[in-house]
Amino acid sequence: MLNTAALILAAGQGTRMKSNYPKVVHKVCGHPMVQYVIDTSLQAGVDKCIVITGFKAQEVEKQLKGPIDFVRQEEQLGTGHAVMQAHRVLAGFKGNVVVLNGDIPLITSRTIKKMLMHHEENSYDCCVLTAELPDPVGYGRIVRDKRGNIKRIVEEKDATKVEKHIKEINSGVYIFNAQKLFEALKALDNDNKQGEYYLTDVIEIIKNRGGIVGGFKLEDHTEIKGINNRIQLAEVSEIMRNRILENLMLSGVTIQDPQNTYIEKEVVIGRDTVVYSGTHLEGKTSIGEDCRIGPNCRIKDSRVEDRVEVAYSVVVKSRIKTGSTVGPFAYIRPDSEIGKHVKIGDFVEIKKSKVGDYTKISHLAYVGDARIGEEVNLGAGVIIVNYDGYKKHQTIIQDKAFVGCNANLISPVNIGEGSYIAAGSTITDDVPEDSLAIARSRQVIKKGWPTKKRKEWEGKQHE
Ligand code: UD1
Ligand code: CA
Repeated sequence: MLNTAALILAAGQGTRMKSNYPKVVHKVCGHPMVQYVIDTSLQAGVDKCIVITGFKAQEVEKQLKGPIDFVRQEEQLGTGHAVMQAHRVLAGFKGNVVVLNGDIPLITSRTIKKMLMHHEENSYDCCVLTAELPDPVGYGRIVRDKRGNIKRIVEEKDATKVEKHIKEINSGVYIFNAQKLFEALKALDNDNKQGEYYLTDVIEIIKNRGGIVGGFKLEDHTEIKGINNRIQLAEVSEIMRNRILENLMLSGVTIQDPQNTYIEKEVVIGRDTVVYSGTHLEGKTSIGEDCRIGPNCRIKDSRVEDRVEVAYSVVVKSRIKTGSTVGPFAYIRPDSEIGKHVKIGDFVEIKKSKVGDYTKISHLAYVGDARIGEEVNLGAGVIIVNYDGYKKHQTIIQDKAFVGCNANLISPVNIGEGSYIAAGSTITDDVPEDSLAIARSRQVIKKGWPTKKRKEWEGKQHE
């Protein structure tokens, strides 16, 4: 294969999105839509990947990843004008230039590879990826001559009534001979309804100069669905979401209710794990084998090991080790590490804390900035009082300690190994190992007090 560069157009504002943010960074299953186009081009084996940015360029550039070069299009004067901006960085480049619109995230590397082969086999100067759409509204139409050869592309806004009936559309993916492309761009004008320099006009220019223009028609047109407004954003996201779910199911993950499961592209899940309805798995999350996740969970940027169960809970930027259970209704906040075979029960919030193996925090507790050892038991209503209104402090609870219900541990405090904290205590000082700490006032019994009191009250009523 010839040397190949990809040129991805991502400078437009995307007016039809009605957004303050550039269109190409709107998210599809958690990633900016243009990131898919970048990744797909790289997977297709291009030697160089150039992204053209313009509208809020810095914002776009900072969100994109990979071995890419950015070229700025300071004024957005059309797709042809966008491609012109790459002339300098591709000066002297001889080979294929694959141009892709940044708003078609469903395009696959298989298609790009097949198209490259077709382009080279036929020695084209320009190859356009096309498809027949039942409803072609909004797309540029492919105008063919009597012999069926591509003559030009006409934009919807510039098309005649007859041309509007054409069902074959321009996908926004092209392969050009680099030199022919940049020569033709010099002849481009903006004499059209939108007053823009259309890349699509280059096809006719190349053709008129004796170049060979051909098409590569896709059978499955879902791949080239473009995103111009938020309805299309939802439609494309739905297709992408199903692709991700299907890949997971084929790799051995059970998805109970694919209609109601939202899993982002980078999420990894081990085999025999079951994902129940209403689950959202986001960012860089990995789930081990044989887990039960959901119903109704949100897990983000977290590592969940094998045989873990999480139900009706939120886990963010944390790690949960093998065999532990979380929820229902737990909230594991960033920088927490839950050990092996731990039980985190209902209405428990853990923040920036480490919880040792076999520890139980079964109900109604707040654990913040704490280090909890192994085989510890925190009773219902235990609160780690980590904040004094000014600073956060750390509490340490050693192995096998038992903290009774409704205890407050005023941080910083250290609870020694195997110690007991009496229920209802407010602990302000360290507790040595193997000790019982009681920090509450003694119970007082006043026999007959209610009867006496009632008489007093009743007497008052008769006055
Ligand atoms: C474009 C095609 C149309 C095709 C459709 C496929 C043109 C003139 N028309 O139309 O034939 O059917 O895509 O989806 O090319 N961009 C820039 N700089 C600009 C303008 C746009 O970088 O000055 C970028 C946008 O960010 C976007 C891409 O180019 O990623 C396409 O622009 P868009 O306005 O969406 O073009 P369409 O009207 O969809
Ligand atoms: Ca578009």
